[in-house]
Amino acid sequence: MKDLDNLSLETLCVKDSAVTESGQSHVQPIHATSAYTYKNIEDSIAVFNGDKEGYVYSRYANPTIETVENKLAKLESMNTNLDATCIMTSSGLSAISTFVLSQLESGDAVLTQNDLYGGTTEIFKKIISKYGIVTYAIDLSDSVLVEATLKRYPAIKLVYCETPSNPTLNCLEIEKLAKLSHEYEAICAIDNTFSTFYLQQPFRHGVDFVLYSATKFLNGHGNSIAGAIIARDKSQRKQIWDTMKLLGTNSNPWDAWLLHNGLKTLSVRMDRHCSNAHKIAQYLEAHQKVNRVNYPGLQSHPAHKHAQKQMSQYGGMLSFEIDGGLEEGKAFMNNTQLCSITATLGNVDTLLLHPATSSHLNIPKDVRVASGITDGLVRMSVGIEQVDDLIADISQSLSALS
Ligand SMILES: Cc1ncc(COP(=O)(O)O)c(C=O)c1O
Repeated sequence: MKDLDNLSLETLCVKDSAVTESGQSHVQPIHATSAYTYKNIEDSIAVFNGDKEGYVYSRYANPTIETVENKLAKLESMNTNLDATCIMTSSGLSAISTFVLSQLESGDAVLTQNDLYGGTTEIFKKIISKYGIVTYAIDLSDSVLVEATLKRYPAIKLVYCETPSNPTLNCLEIEKLAKLSHEYEAICAIDNTFSTFYLQQPFRHGVDFVLYSATKFLNGHGNSIAGAIIARDKSQRKQIWDTMKLLGTNSNPWDAWLLHNGLKTLSVRMDRHCSNAHKIAQYLEAHQKVNRVNYPGLQSHPAHKHAQKQMSQYGGMLSFEIDGGLEEGKAFMNNTQLCSITATLGNVDTLLLHPATSSHLNIPKDVRVASGITDGLVRMSVGIEQVDDLIADISQSLSALS
């Protein structure tokens, strides 16, 4: 079977590039080189001019990184007629800053939400703002407010969202946001880190750009830092590539290779993350020491219907508030034996984080509390362990609370 265009997403994740010559490396090699050589100056000039295909310098492009970019573009646009393109970056945050700087200029504005990953809010407030780009953060689930804001501020050229959001797991109606953005001549971009294309395909809902912290579920093993910007059309590549290349926010072959390895098991990992998280969310919801559980798969989740419409499963992330607030939340985290207190997510093992004192430490308290990131909120990135072991650990940890 040679037709790689008709494979399912699960198979494409596993499959390496097609065999082009006998004896070629079965696993993608790591091209650890900063630059590339030419037989003569004429070839060098032709490549520099863009008259001939070829590599110049690894800040511009590298064969290992390019293989992963092509794979991500294909996976993200699976079962669509889109000719998508991907640019990898050094981290999720550099994907966001590179993307925004590639699309906007001084005088433009961004419409976004308050409950973004803390680092993203900081980028908009502390970095992007220095370049004359204003950010309006509102409740993006209120479509009347979204439309009124777009109407009031024609300078808004980008609607930027994160769904499900970190760490409150708020879910936005992607199709509605994309439609409204386009009606008011803005582009729509989404951070799809929590779901990945295995659970949610924003391009199918009209989104223009999909961004990732590839450090998380896409890699799955917590051993590399990377980001990705995926555009629905190849014509958008040059503008992003120029910005990436000049800012020097490129990925590197080693991290890209680790991501490539992780991608192979994405579908089986995600199935297990999702089923474990769903069971744990149900367990926590029924527990008398837990006040509130945020998990899009629960009927009680305020946007469960949106999640049901646009996600195939509900993901491996949840957050919850233990009765008693900050002190009880901290005691719970200290009591667990199997879960690690670690400031990342999407790994194969279960991780706990206290947003108020870590990922959202630099977000003003009134802003974070207003969007549900209270002092007692605990975030759990549910791993692929045997779920009964996890529930036993959570249970003993909750029982030990006063
Ligand atoms: C939703 C989301 N987007 C972006 C980022 C930033 O990614 P990175 O740490 O790879 O820069 C994070 C980090 O936790 C995240 O959770």
